[in-house]
Amino acid sequence: LLADSLYIINNYAREYFTDTLFNSEEGQNVGLSYFEERGFTEETIKKFQLGYCLNTFNSFAQSALAKGYNLEYLQKTGLVTIRNEQPADNYRGRVIFPIHNQSGKILGFGARILGKHDRAPKYINSPENDIYVKSRVLYGTYFARHSIDKLNECLLVEGYTDVISLHQAGVENVVASSGTSLTQDQLRLIKKYTNNLTILYDGDSAGVKAALRGLDMAVEEGLNVKLVLLPDKEDPDSYVQKIGAQAFREFIEENKKDFVLFKLQLSMQEAGSDSAKKSQLVNEIAETISKIDKAEDFTKQQDYIRQCSQLLNIDEQGLIQLVNKFIR
Ligand code: GTP
Ligand code: MN
Ligand code: MN
Ligand code: MN
Ligand code: MN
Repeated sequence: LLADSLYIINNYAREYFTDTLFNSEEGQNVGLSYFEERGFTEETIKKFQLGYCLNTFNSFAQSALAKGYNLEYLQKTGLVTIRNEQPADNYRGRVIFPIHNQSGKILGFGARILGKHDRAPKYINSPENDIYVKSRVLYGTYFARHSIDKLNECLLVEGYTDVISLHQAGVENVVASSGTSLTQDQLRLIKKYTNNLTILYDGDSAGVKAALRGLDMAVEEGLNVKLVLLPDKEDPDSYVQKIGAQAFREFIEENKKDFVLFKLQLSMQEAGSDSAKKSQLVNEIAETISKIDKAEDFTKQQDYIRQCSQLLNIDEQGLIQLVNKFIR
């Protein structure tokens, strides 16, 4: 089967890149020292099976072909491309982040450039293929699932390095959307483990916007969504490395905001004194509240109606009627 072949190739590549990282001179001098500069311990590097791809034309491709792996399949994984009619390594001179599925098999890779990235993209990710479907993958699920289960909460971050640094700090119930906005499939994956989702997106406006986009979808999936806004210019990785594990955990607990109320406050700021905008806002929030499944969570809906009517300074009964209009 094609899928099986792709898993086998990815596993071979994972071993190859880890071996390169620890046992080649370039791997140690370039890859390993990069990870060390970022504050990753050897234990962390090994746990996440991080690696390094030599900055040569095709060391990996040659080794894989010599092992008998099929060139067409190697191309499907994105590990190898054809350049000047020759098989060439796609992740040359990059550090490698394997992306595991829930049972630990390798779906694909993220490959990060070292140093500045003006010319080339910062990360190259595997192309979509029979096993890697971006919209269905959450980075870190394999390492997070037991902790999510135990704590009955899932933290969602943007990037690979956010997941890794948080694990190192002892926060293990964390997965990453890898820079895309949340999809229904990803939310369903989270729902298999918990109903409580806390979003920790980067403290820039892109981060907030990406977080907001998922709201109605998450509410519809029956998730309780909370949001933590990080200080400007910080992401979970940089912030936990800066303030330490204990202070970071306290920061999360102290700054968790209910997502529906957060959205409302944000939109109110935008609407200002514009009454047309404000009434549109009331409609939007009523629609969001209407999506909370009443049968499943009646008190939650009532709580939102009470809190939102207070925030908006409108009549509670009026808001109830509006919410009911959306339910029919
Ligand atoms: P570091 O800079 O290594 O700390 O990574 P980061 O995770 O903080 O990066 P950033 O916040 O810019 O992006 C979040 C996530 O989006 C990354 O982890 C990647 O999964 C993805 N991403 C970022 N840049 C690129 C890119 O150039 N191409 C692609 N395909 N994905 C990217
Ligand atoms: Mn970026
Ligand atoms: Mn960002
Ligand atoms: Mn980031
Ligand atoms: Mn970062």
